[in-house]
Amino acid sequence: MSAAVENNKKKVTTFSFGEMKQRGEKISMLTSYDYSMARIVDNAGIDAILVGDSASNVMAGWNTTLPITLDQMIYHGASVVRAVKRALVVVDLPFGTYQGNSKEALNSAVRVMKETGADAIKIEGGEEILESVQRILSAGIPIMGHLGLTPQSINKFGTFTVRAKDEAEAQKLIRDAHLLEDAGCFAIVLEKIPAKLAAQVASELKIPIIGIGAGNQVDGQVLVIHDMLGITNEFSPRFLRRYHHLYEEIAGAVENYVSDVKAVNFPNDKEQY
Ligand code: KIV
Repeated sequence: MSAAVENNKKKVTTFSFGEMKQRGEKISMLTSYDYSMARIVDNAGIDAILVGDSASNVMAGWNTTLPITLDQMIYHGASVVRAVKRALVVVDLPFGTYQGNSKEALNSAVRVMKETGADAIKIEGGEEILESVQRILSAGIPIMGHLGLTPQSINKFGTFTVRAKDEAEAQKLIRDAHLLEDAGCFAIVLEKIPAKLAAQVASELKIPIIGIGAGNQVDGQVLVIHDMLGITNEFSPRFLRRYHHLYEEIAGAVENYVSDVKAVNFPNDKEQY
């Protein structure tokens, strides 16, 4: 077995994330929320799996990420971890479990790490949540930051449009990114911001910057798997590339099944005992 293949089979860690940035290797990341999907995604060679609170949207059908609970995130996280051999697994702390009270933030992060077996947690925000970031990191729990469009603050923004287009917000984002790096976060997600700003942050910071709607001059990319596979078909932001149209494929298969059952074409003689 070649060294490259052997290296590729090694478990991805927060440390190897940093090494990938240093050697200029782009980092691939996708969400997953359940065992079966995570098994496929991991075996296909993804570097990192995000158990995102987007589960609130794509798994539970809510309009925002706000309703999902810590217990529900732990259920999704543990299901994913049971499937994964190589990818780094990061679990989102949900809305209301880390803002405002750093002791509660630490309790939430400890529960996720103990009860899921994940490698790291992700939280949204900069300066406002710095105390929580520091307390969680002091317990040895790796944190991925998340800046730009932070969906847990959607009621404050009032819109899902591109963030940090004006100078003041861009300057705050740059300051926040440095604060998170200095505190000890191992990576940061930048969501839906101008590509030029994301490129600047990626070049100023040593830790990997993972983009979603943040251009290609960052250190890696993340997408919601239901969007990139075309399971969701009503959400079409400019940054989304659909690699499949599974909604139509699944609907077609179900239609065929329904008509086979109705016509007594299923099961046939070979499909029974
Ligand atoms: O919850 C999620 O899926 C995310 C990604 C959009 C980065 O946070």
